[in-house]
Parts: sequence; C-alpha cells; structure tokens
Amino acid sequence: MGKWWKKAVVYQIYPKSFKDTNGDGIGDILGIIEKLDYLKELGVGALWITPIYPSPQKDNGYDISDYQDIDKIFGDMDEFDKLLEEAHKRDIKIIMDVVVNHTSTDHRWFKEAIRDPKSKYKDYYIFKKGKDNNEPNNWVSMFGGSAWENLPGSDEYYLHLFDPSQADLNWENGDLRREIYDMASYWMEKGVDGFRLDVINLISKDQEFPMDEEDAPTRGKKFYVNGPRIHEFFKEMNKEVFSKYDSATVGETMSITPQIAIDYTKPENKELDMVFAMNHLKADYLNGDKWTYKPIELKDLRGIMTLWQDEVNKNGGWNSLFWSNHDQPRAVSRFGNDNEYREKSAKMLGTVLHMLRGTPYIYQGEEIGMTNPDFEKIEDYNDIETINLYKERIKSGIPEEKIMDGIRRQSRDNARTPIQWDSSENGGFTKGKPWMNISKNYKEINVEENLKNKDSVFYHYKKLIELRRNHDIITYGEYRLIDDESNNVWAYIRKYKDEMWLVVSNFFKEEVSYTIKDKEVLERHKSKIILSNYEDSKEEFRNIKLRPYESIIYSLS
Ligand code: GLC
Ligand code: CA
Repeated sequence: MGKWWKKAVVYQIYPKSFKDTNGDGIGDILGIIEKLDYLKELGVGALWITPIYPSPQKDNGYDISDYQDIDKIFGDMDEFDKLLEEAHKRDIKIIMDVVVNHTSTDHRWFKEAIRDPKSKYKDYYIFKKGKDNNEPNNWVSMFGGSAWENLPGSDEYYLHLFDPSQADLNWENGDLRREIYDMASYWMEKGVDGFRLDVINLISKDQEFPMDEEDAPTRGKKFYVNGPRIHEFFKEMNKEVFSKYDSATVGETMSITPQIAIDYTKPENKELDMVFAMNHLKADYLNGDKWTYKPIELKDLRGIMTLWQDEVNKNGGWNSLFWSNHDQPRAVSRFGNDNEYREKSAKMLGTVLHMLRGTPYIYQGEEIGMTNPDFEKIEDYNDIETINLYKERIKSGIPEEKIMDGIRRQSRDNARTPIQWDSSENGGFTKGKPWMNISKNYKEINVEENLKNKDSVFYHYKKLIELRRNHDIITYGEYRLIDDESNNVWAYIRKYKDEMWLVVSNFFKEEVSYTIKDKEVLERHKSKIILSNYEDSKEEFRNIKLRPYESIIYSLS
C-alpha cells in the first residue's frame, strides 16, 4: 500500500510569522485557517505546524509548558479543532510538532520536581550532584555555555542540552515515557495526522554521563546523540502510539549517517517514517563553524545529497527533502541568488529538490521566493541562539563586524520574519506591530504579486506539486546521478518502469555548455520538456546551453 506521506508535499508553518488576525503582531491559528485556501491552491497535502502549545516562548514554543493545550497567543483548542476540520475538508493533513527531549522549566512536572524533591517528577528530569563544586561533567549546551544549571543553594544540577529554561527529560523513567505516549495519543485521537519529533535522537543519554575528553565545541554530543536505548524507545513509541494510526512521523535528527537513517526509517524496524538529516546544510560552514562562511561548492552539496539518495533509497528507508526550515537561512539567499536571478534560482532550487526521491518539505515563504532580511543590527534579532552566540563571541574578542556577517548569513531569524502577503503596511501580515520586523523587500516580494503573475515562483512550485500528484516516477522512480564531475551543473535521471526523466540544472549565474556523456541517457532519442524555468528551453538534451540558473526536466523516450 502506498503511504500517503510518500506522495504528499508538506508545507511547514511557523505560526508566529504566518498570519496575524487580531492585531497583536503575532500570527495565530485563525490566520492559518484564513490561508487554507491559499495552501490548497498551492496543492500541498500536509501542514507541519511548529509548536503552538503553552510556552514562555523563550525558544519560540520549543519550550513547552503544557503538552495538551494551546498557547493563548495562538488561540484556543476550539480554534485548533476548527483548523483540523477545515484542513481535512480540503484534504490537507495536519502534522503537529512536539518536543519530548525537554520541557520548559515552567512545566508543571519541573515545578513539582523543584517544589517537592520527593515527588515522582524529580526523576522525570536529569538531576545530578556536582563534582568538587563543579558541574557533573563538561558537556556544553547547544545554545552556548555549560549544559548543566545549578539549583541555587544546593550541589544539584539539571541537564539542559539547549537553554537553561529547557530541562531535558529522563527517558529512562517508564512513567515519564507513559505520559509522553498518552499525550501523543491524545492528539492522534483528536485527529491529527502525525508528528514532527523535535531533536528526537537525543532522548537516550549514556547513563554514566562521562566527561568528554575531546575538547570539541560540541562537547558531550557523542554521549547523547543516537544513544544506547534509542531504538528501544522509538520502537516502544511506535507500538504504543503510531502503529495504531495511518500517521506520519518525521524525526529531527542531528549528526546521523545514511545507515543510521535507514535503521530509524526502515518499515520493518517499526520506528519512524522519515528523518530530517541536516548534513547538506553544512556545505557553507568553514571548518564546521556555522558562523564562518565558506562558499558552497556544488560538488559537495550534490555529493552529500546524492549519497543520501543512493544509500537510503536502496536500503528501504525514506528521505525527507528540504532546503530550509525555521532554523535555517532562506534557501534562495543561501543556495541561489537573491538579487538579479532571484526568481530563476528559486525555481531551479524547487525543481532540483522536488524531483529527488523522498518527501519534499516547503518552508513557508519559500514558494514565493522570500529572502534573508539582511538586518543590520543585533537589536533586530530575536532568536535565543543568535543572541547567545553574539554575546559569547563579543566576550571572546571577535570583531563585531565578523560576528554580524555570520549572523546575517546564518541566523535562524532569517527564516522567521513575517510572511509577506501583499504590498500594504507590514506586508499584510498584521494590522499591529509585528513581533519581528518584516523584510524590507515586501513591496516587490509578496504573495499577492506571485498570484497575479503566471510566471511567478509560486506557480512553479504549484506545477512541481501537480507533477508529483500525476506522475508516479517522481515518488517511486530510481534516482541516478549521471555526472559527478561538473562544477556548475547537477544532472540526474529518474527511472520508473520504462519511463526516464532527466533533470539538468545550472546552479550559477554564468552560462554553461553542457554535454551529456551518460550511455543510458544517450540511448534515448526523443525528449519532451516537462518543466523549465525558461519559456524557450530547447528539446535537444544531449548538448545544452544552460542560461543562468536554468533548470529543465525532460521526459526521454
Ligand atoms: C530543534 C528546533 C529548534 C529548537 C531546538 C530545541 O532543533 O528545530 O528550533 O531550538 O530543537 O528544541
Ligand atoms: Ca495574533
């Protein structure tokens, strides 16, 4: 049986910045409902909604203080139920985002754990005694500083792999696991169609909590990423919750290899349906440092993505495909060209990704070619990771200019500016003051403009989604890279039964002459253009003159 999530395109909504309906400057559930027809027009099959549960919003909802309610800033449960109903009416599924590696320290469990050290909730978290007046070990937090926070007036610490306000849960505790499964079942019973599981491969920690002898900036990681009981926990969660529904689960997984991804997503293992692997998003890190820029080499990017296509697909796993999300810069600014060739390169990126094998994810605004906002000052930024990083690096004496260059390129806020709906004030996102500044280019780049212009990025994405619906080759066909040499062109084929599609894309603004050398492709003589980002691309596919960012899908026979 074909799984629905293999044929669907998923659209990620970051509700805070999607659409505000009550003028408080924060996007809300009613705003999502208002735009369902727009999303239906685009053609997406599912929405992944980042956390909307009650939260102090230190990490924009990834610090949950109550798993079974809706934060007032977004609306209430009735509105959520309405959203479910309205989405389902339009054949759009809803994927919730849940964070079970940690909770906010405002969560009832954590407060109880502190208030009454004998309460059962104490063991829901990871409390350890310090060693010689120091932290229990030398692990560092992903958001900077130690991963341990001292409880004032005691020698006890709790683990937080992220902000001190995000306390890690103790998955060793069976009662805690039961609570998590019951909570997930509650949402499934309500009718949601699946979950995106936040940093899910961090939930099993090495119970020795060893010191990390290696002095890496990510000290401790090897003791909690893909930890000792991870498969057991995934299998249990699957059995207790997801096996009972026709659901989709997608795990956010850091530091994984194709082999690990296969183990997590192989159907017979009964763990997760898909994972997000981040490996291709490091192609512009210099020596592994996210904040120091290195120009992307197509060879690297194509190589990583091809490795994942080859390994995962051949071994029964399933890939999720994405250029961006709420933690990443805007795709067109990072991998394309956000000036002269913004539309061309945004379409090219869309084509390349959507023609790969796996489930594509569109991050809100990508379908209209939104760009990084290029904020000038640190005050324009809001993200906890960005702010911490700034402070840390200023303290260590790095010149501000250099820090700001990194932030402008890599800050998570690049993706978090409000959606540009039209050319009216605040891009039509809010009638009030937006919680975060809107990008200055909203007058030219917005949904209204895109819908008016038949040649827009929006309609290109719409076509890509339609193609997937109508051609099984996109979902089920084999992927093969036909050239791993070119420095500017990514050319691959898809094959299914006797069909063959060829996808050829120029990743740069320089024109390039490209000659196909692949034997199997040259055995085919006729071609038909399925889609191109130029109106007048030629059917001749053996020798192609590719214009800036030109990207063509041919069907060969
Ligand atoms: C994930 C989320 C990110 C969040 C972090 C901690 O990486 O995508 O936004 O800050 O987990 O929950
Ligand atoms: Ca609002």
